[in-house]
Amino acid sequence: MLHSAFVEIHLGHLRHNLQRVRQRLGPATLVAVVKADAYGHGLLPVVRTLRDEGVRHFAVARLREALMLRRNGIEDTLLLLGAPLPEELPVCAHHRIEVTVSSSMLAEAVCATARRHGPLRVHVKVDTGMGRLGLWPEEVPAIIRRLEQTAGITLAGLCTHLATAEQPDDPFMQEQLERFEQLWQQFGDAFEAQHVANSSALFALPASYWTDSRQLARIGAALYGYLPCPELSQQAGLRPAMRFVAQVVQVRTVPPGTSLSYGRTWIAPDWRRVAVVGAGYGDGIPRRLSNRGQVGLRGQRFPIVGAICMDLTMVDLGDPASAPDVQEGEPVIFFGEGGPLIEEMATWAETVPYELSCSAAQRVPRHYRQHPHPAQLPVANR
Ligand SMILES: Cc1ncc(COP(=O)(O)O)c(C=O)c1O
Repeated sequence: MLHSAFVEIHLGHLRHNLQRVRQRLGPATLVAVVKADAYGHGLLPVVRTLRDEGVRHFAVARLREALMLRRNGIEDTLLLLGAPLPEELPVCAHHRIEVTVSSSMLAEAVCATARRHGPLRVHVKVDTGMGRLGLWPEEVPAIIRRLEQTAGITLAGLCTHLATAEQPDDPFMQEQLERFEQLWQQFGDAFEAQHVANSSALFALPASYWTDSRQLARIGAALYGYLPCPELSQQAGLRPAMRFVAQVVQVRTVPPGTSLSYGRTWIAPDWRRVAVVGAGYGDGIPRRLSNRGQVGLRGQRFPIVGAICMDLTMVDLGDPASAPDVQEGEPVIFFGEGGPLIEEMATWAETVPYELSCSAAQRVPRHYRQHPHPAQLPVANR
């Protein structure tokens, strides 16, 4: 028997989430964010599924991700969200990859590239409060003028990124939107489109926000079926596309006082039945979940006990008199249908669901499923 961990990717759920996203978008255009191997779900299977449904805009962070798509025959619009190195720009021009200008140095490099290597489509990124990449609003007028005056440059988009979209009660998102709107009023005519929203903003903003077919929305998480704020993702009716499963490797009944795993951080308080499960931090299960997380087994929840190891995790099945008669090879759900929500797992691990799906390790095989699970389990058991 093969005791291994695997992730199931439910492409039917990806399609369902796409529908939910489109319903919100109105006349705006979706840019599917597929960086970091489509948040761990697998770049090519995700892009091909979304293409089948008519998606024609994709965004990645790094040039090599965009080139992987081009090498595999994806000829759609590709946007590089990250700041490219100047020497990467000719490659972008050659492969028709749209670039984001987030500094005056990059603006200069983009102009030089367009003159020497041909046309480039450019998105100007403003920092309205994210405090990460972007031009300061006061730098924007001069940079736009510079780009406009350079032959071969098309101003494809004016954009910004929101810092607090997942905290609907925080007024900061509104402040950022207002700063952006001022710039758009002034300079919008120079651009083909604008884009601001990520997944949380998509569900936090009112439908009246989406009025303009010149709006794009850069959406990742919602397509994969989660949002950083668990309450929002339930309301949004999303279905988690990733399910992390591992098999029981061994079942043991241990007497009181038995310690488990490195550091002896858990000692059996009485007789316990313990399942040793074939996934650990080497597979992407955060070690932070030691003695804090839960898993799903036979539709019930059981606590993770002792320190999570590189390849193995121990689970307390309870009093041997009443514990389920779990067998080696049975599936244990770390997150996804039949186990905790990825958002719950993230809360226990003090992280965001993005990190969990991106962390599913290379050695963990992806099993792709075309159709949704026949039974939609109640949310608490998914
Ligand atoms: C610049 C930018 N836009 C959009 C997104 C998509 O965000 P989300 O996955 O929350 O939709 C990201 C993701 O990290 C991003 O970095």
